[in-house]
Parts: sequence; C-alpha cells; structure tokens
Amino acid sequence: MSIVVRGAVEPCPEFHLPPADPCTVIIFGAVGDLARRKLIPALMTLANEGCLSQGFDVVGVARRSFDDATYREQMRQAVPSVSAEEWQRFASSLHFVAGDLSDPNTYVRLAQRLEEIERRRQRPRNRLYYCSVPPSLAMPIVNQLGDHGMAHEERGWSRIVLEKPFGRSLAEARSLNAQVARVFREEQVFRIDHYLGKDTVQNILVFRFGNTLFEPVWNRNYVDYVSITAAETSGVGTRAGYYEEAGALRDMVANHMLQLLALAAMEPPVAFEANAVRNQKVQVLQAIPPWSPDDVRQRSVRGQYIRGRVHGQEVPGYREEPNVAPNSLVETYAALELRIENWRWAGVPFYLRTGKRLASALTEIAVHFKRTPQALFARTPRDFIEPNTVVLRLQPQEGIAIAFGAKRPGPEMRTDTVLMEFDYQRAFGVRLPDAYVVLVLDAMRGDATLFTRADEVEAQWQIIDPIEAAWQQGLVPLVYYPAGSEGPPEANALLARQGHRWRALHSDGGPEAGETD
Ligand code: BG6
Repeated sequence: MSIVVRGAVEPCPEFHLPPADPCTVIIFGAVGDLARRKLIPALMTLANEGCLSQGFDVVGVARRSFDDATYREQMRQAVPSVSAEEWQRFASSLHFVAGDLSDPNTYVRLAQRLEEIERRRQRPRNRLYYCSVPPSLAMPIVNQLGDHGMAHEERGWSRIVLEKPFGRSLAEARSLNAQVARVFREEQVFRIDHYLGKDTVQNILVFRFGNTLFEPVWNRNYVDYVSITAAETSGVGTRAGYYEEAGALRDMVANHMLQLLALAAMEPPVAFEANAVRNQKVQVLQAIPPWSPDDVRQRSVRGQYIRGRVHGQEVPGYREEPNVAPNSLVETYAALELRIENWRWAGVPFYLRTGKRLASALTEIAVHFKRTPQALFARTPRDFIEPNTVVLRLQPQEGIAIAFGAKRPGPEMRTDTVLMEFDYQRAFGVRLPDAYVVLVLDAMRGDATLFTRADEVEAQWQIIDPIEAAWQQGLVPLVYYPAGSEGPPEANALLARQGHRWRALHSDGGPEAGETD
C-alpha cells in the first residue's frame, strides 16, 4: 500500500541561477574526458540559461597541437544536442593554448593570452583555474601558477578548482594542502566533491533545517540506526588504471559517502554560508574515532565482483576487466559500521555501503527510527507495524519517502505500514541540473559552501587511513559477490548481529524496499 503526496509547488521550468562574475575559466586538461563529458556541457548549459556574462571566456590548455578552431570543433562533439546558433554564440568564447603542463613556457604563453583577452574585453582579471587532470599533474600546475605570479588577486580574483582524489592518505592530503597553501589562500581553493553539487544532496540540509518536524527526532533518542547506500550497476569501465590504485574505499567512501554522512549527521550551522556549514561537517567527521585493527576486523567488509548478470546481461568479473590484474585484490565493494561519538549520535550505528556491479543503481540515506515503546496494536503477527523510516533518495527517482503505520480499512483494528512520498521531478516538473553546472557556477561566484575545505579532507582521511592500512595487511579477507547481486552476505551479517537490515536494492523507497504490497 502506498500514499503518494504531491508537493504543492509551482513548476519551475528554469533553474533561476544567479549570474556569474565576468571571468575566464582556464581548463587544464582541456581535451580530457571530464572536460568533454562534464565541463564544456556545464558551461554550455550556463550560457543557455543566461548565467554567463558577456565578458566570459574559456581557455583550454593541453599538449595537443590544436589552435582555437580545432579546439572548438573538438568541443562541439561534447554538446551534440545544442543548436548551431547556440553553439556559435558559445564557441566564440573558446580559446586554446597548446603546451606541456609541466613546462614553464606554457604558463608564459598562457599568461600572455589571458592578458590579451582581458584587455580586449576590458574587464577585471577574474580567473578560475580548473585542474581537470590526474592528481600527479595538479600540483605542478599549482606551483607553476605560483611561480608565474598567476595566483595573485591585485586586479581581480583568482581561484583554483581541484578534482578528487585529493591524495591517497592523510599524509598525502596534508602535504597537498600545504603545497596548495603556499600559492593560494584557502578562500581561493575549491576542492570538488561532485556529490555536493547534486540538488538532492543539498536538499538534505533543507529537509533537516528548513522544517521543524524532523529535527527534534533526528538523534539517538529516536533513531535506531542510519544506513547509507551508494550502489552502482556499472563496472570499472575504462578506468581500471585509476581504480586498481584506488578501490571502493578511496574512490567512494573517503569522499562522497563521508560527505553524505556528514550532511545527515551535522549540527545546524549558524548560517547557510561556506565556513559555517563546513565547520559543522568537520565536527561530525572529527567525532568518528579512528579505528584500531580490531575495529577494522569487526566492522568492515570488503568485496570484489565476480562474473554475473546485471539487468539480464552476462558481465565479466572484476579480474577479467581490461587492465585489471588477474589476481587483483582491489575491493569493488565496501561496507562499514561507523560510530559518531558525540552527544547527538552516541550509540547509533551509521552503516555505509558502496559497490560496483550491484543489483541496481541507487543512492540513498535511510534513517531507521526506534520501535514504539508499546506494541499497542500488535494483536496478531500480521498487525506488526514496522518502525518508521525516512528515506532520502538521492538518485535515481530523487525524492523522500516516509514509512509509517496506518489502520487498514474495516471494522477490525488491523494495521499496516504505508508510505508517504515526495518525488522531486513530479513535484517541481523540472529536470535536476547536473552537479557540475551548479559547482562550476558556484566557483565562478566564489561560493565555497559546496566544496570541501582542507581540514575536512584531512578529517576524511583520518577515518579512512587505519581501515586502508588494516585491509592492506590482509586483516579483513576479500569476499566475492556475483555481479548483479545485493553484494556479499558478510555485509548483511554486519548489521544482523545488532538486529538491523540493509534495505533491498530496489528503489521503490518502501519501508523494506521491495516488500510493500
Ligand atoms: C566518482 C567515482 O567520483 O563517482 C566513480 O570515481 C563513481 O567510480 C562515481 O562511479 C559515481 O558518481 P554518480 O554521480 O554517478 O553517483
């Protein structure tokens, strides 16, 4: 049974995004996968939405021997659905500087080109440097920008956007932060975690702190446990080179999943403003004590997919994927039981699980509330009312579902669990903008609320480091799960010993997903 409540809201056909400052976006790694798949399409969307000022330019930098015309041609393929007219308007702002990113001469030429554009446009020297490159190249870029005096803010602002992964350990993250800090002030640094750009992720804060209804029960007095899932059906694809060095823990848990946990568990910030929000997130992360090897043994599961069927199609196991070592011990699945040792959450388990090649693609935060103190209506086993659950569904079918007990119609007192649902797309009648649209615009506007601060990244690694170390030492055996399954049974056992359960990987949002009638 399910009750569907539609949001009483006006449809909003446009994003109503505020305009960006006039500026130049410099994309290092301008012809790479991220630039083609995300950055150019995001900038194109912003142009079409009227968010880019007249004085807006993109300068791509990469080793290819392109000129402006070839670069424009190449990027045209990144946005096949836009009209010729729209493209023409946008393409005239695209420029290209060819050069090796570790060669100082590249930066001399880039600086000249930027000044020439700024002079012609007669606008301030506002620059957004976007490092769309592998991590090993990002620091040389930062250093070169410093050496060539390109980070200063005398005649406009300079900001740098850094992609994940931000190091592979706490030590590396600290060293990277220190290197960046030698060239840029923290306010100039925008570390991307693309999950923060998703509307549904930002809505966690609105749901919690924009309503009086939920916050009073959002604590250990009422919450039994919280389960956070980021399940994918896709495999490692063409990214084995990177993934073999990362694994699920570094790839998903160290950033996206800990961000979801922080947003779900943080205290209310004093304002919706970058540092106020990030202060509270850091506090939550710092309240998770680093694990001993014994904790890692008892509270974590690491798995790897073997051959199986996803959506009816036979798919290879991880070790059979191109460029994966045939004896690889890299995990494609991770499950953890974390504890937040603070006044609000002491004693409440936060279970995190993520994996590739699972039964369905689903990202959600489920808050499972405690049972009622008295089973007043449980006259028969059928009358059992499931404890309340609030499910924040981040993707797909973005929305929120609340499960609660209701009386079945009829003369007898029979009960059942029903579902109240809010569906993002149906309620607002609009497609949600891609995370990169939001994040690129925020960076151009200088709003760092949705970016991770240096201490936040370090707090994340502080949690991950001991787990990674114990896994490397083989303290937790790698377990296997067939592609297309719910993941390894060991992850169920992690919860079962405390009487808890993962929700099934079907996204109907029900109290026990897949079990509603
Ligand atoms: C990336 C990871 O950061 O996030 C990928 O490197 C993962 O492995 C991706 O597939 C998931 O993002 P999304 O937005 O598809 O949930």
